[in-house]
Amino acid sequence: GSPVKTDISKIEPGQMINVLWRGQPVFIVNRTEKQTAVLDSLDDRLKDPNDETSIQPDFIDSKFRAKRQNLLVVIGICTHLGCSPKYYPDLVPQSFDSEWQGGFYCPCHNSRFDISGRVYKGSPASRNLDIPPYTFLDENIIEIG
Ligand code: FES
Repeated sequence: GSPVKTDISKIEPGQMINVLWRGQPVFIVNRTEKQTAVLDSLDDRLKDPNDETSIQPDFIDSKFRAKRQNLLVVIGICTHLGCSPKYYPDLVPQSFDSEWQGGFYCPCHNSRFDISGRVYKGSPASRNLDIPPYTFLDENIIEIG
């Protein structure tokens, strides 16, 4: 498949868009500082906080998992059995899972991911959400692939 270009300038803070690349959904989230502020404190709750089993480009760091700290770009397919995770921008009702601070939730078998796509302990998924290769062509245009 060929690369896909997308304008990211219209994504509001906290908003996610869904782009199709090679037949796969790619989630692009314009994360707020409030959303990324929790990333420092989550390591103990995550299965693979340091991305040791992740499928991602070399440029990815283990915390923000992104080229631009605010902008998360992940493949929107659950690494358990391939369902579509849902985006939860904020904290989640404690009745469900008091450990989870929001991010992505897969309804098929209750996998929880943080706002960088890293999987929580207790989830059936074990690999963090995959990250596609991408580059910024200019301030507003991202090319995936
Ligand atoms: Fe997502 Fe099983 S497919 S938890």
